[in-house]
Amino acid sequence: MYSDKVMDHFNNPRNVGALADADGVGEVGNARCGDIMKMYIKVKDNIITDVRFKTFGCGAAIATSSMATEMVKGKTLEEALKVSNKAVTEALDGLPPAKMHCSVLAEEAVRAAIADYKARLELKEKE
Ligand code: FES
Repeated sequence: MYSDKVMDHFNNPRNVGALADADGVGEVGNARCGDIMKMYIKVKDNIITDVRFKTFGCGAAIATSSMATEMVKGKTLEEALKVSNKAVTEALDGLPPAKMHCSVLAEEAVRAAIADYKARLELKEKE
């Protein structure tokens, strides 16, 4: 049912945990199942230098988040915003159709973390 890559990222998820000194934090919930994802990013010169995630989600959510963190690390904010759940699932050699909604959590969490970073930046600039 799951590809080898999905199983690898589920069994050995990359970048799990939190970043105490994160520059942006995004938390999103999956409307379909109620699962939750939290994404932490460190940003320097518009580039995501570090990223971590925590989830109360299923195996597919863990695998897609793990892959998403690998795909956005080292990217500019604009490039990271273009990493879609479709691109993440393709990098994992696909997901069963019934689990596609799980991959949306990772994409939305990355977007939420970047939005939080930008909001913090605006606040700082106003100070
Ligand atoms: Fe909830 Fe997969 S079933 S994220």
